Amino acid sequence: MITPKGKTFLVTGASSGIGAALCELLLSHGAVVLGVTRRPNILHPDVSPIMADLTSRQDISGIFHRLGKIDGLINCAGTAYLSRIIDGNPADWEEMWRVNVLALSLCSQLSLKHFPKTGGRIVNVSSMSGHRVPPSGGFYAPTKFAVRAITDSLRLELKAIQSRVQVACVSPGFVDTPLLDNYFRGRKGTLSQTRANMKMLAPEDVAHCILTILTAPPHVEVSDILLRSSDQMA
Ligand SMILES: NC(=O)c1ccc[n+]([C@@H]2O[C@H](COP(=O)([O-])OP(=O)(O)OC[C@H]3O[C@@H](n4cnc5c(N)ncnc54)[C@H](OP(=O)(O)O)[C@@H]3O)[C@@H](O)[C@H]2O)c1
Repeated sequence: MITPKGKTFLVTGASSGIGAALCELLLSHGAVVLGVTRRPNILHPDVSPIMADLTSRQDISGIFHRLGKIDGLINCAGTAYLSRIIDGNPADWEEMWRVNVLALSLCSQLSLKHFPKTGGRIVNVSSMSGHRVPPSGGFYAPTKFAVRAITDSLRLELKAIQSRVQVACVSPGFVDTPLLDNYFRGRKGTLSQTRANMKMLAPEDVAHCILTILTAPPHVEVSDILLRSSDQMA
């Protein structure tokens, strides 16, 4: 196992939900954590803030401008709207595409020169909605399928250039975070019904899976971890 103690991790989406839980977990293991957010004032006080709006390519470049060496990049930032193909708002699609897909890809690309020669790990947060399209999947599910495909493309590209950087994803089902308020925007009844029907995953459950990937021995390459609440049907 690789200890996270003294290692440096760059976490996007560090202010809330899965990203915030991961920051706390990494800090509790003695890691140095740099957190990307638009709301630096709400980060854990021991996380070094990097302010960026991930819909902006300029802001994304700024994250890496003065960055030193990192041992891991965890792309947690994401946005989700229940936005159907038949009548969804294209502005919602565009935001989801920019944050969930383009920002994740560009952060991955720009991070590579910050890893030591000995390697490190990139972990992308996909979703169960990146494995099968749920009835409410709309435009969100395609962004998460893209995350899985990008993870696979990057893995193959890194191997082709003999890089020792590994890339993986985690694919959770419902996790009880503020993202769901956005997703079920205007359908509060559906969210309370979902909460009443299942004990959802906690952000910490996902953070532990990410830690498992980050601390696996170098010869162990995890590709994806799928996890869902034991109450979730599919
Ligand atoms: N919750 C679920 O049920 C669930 C299930 C499967 C997968 N996921 C995935 O898990 C990841 C984390 O989601 P979460 O549930 O933890 O959501 P969350 O609590 O709503 O957190 C979302 C994070 O993304 C950041 N973010 C969003 N748009 C951004 C932007 N334009 N620029 C910079 N940062 C931005 C937010 O930061 P600021 O607002 O502070 O900038 C926040 O830290 C996402 O990729 C999501 O798709 C969630």
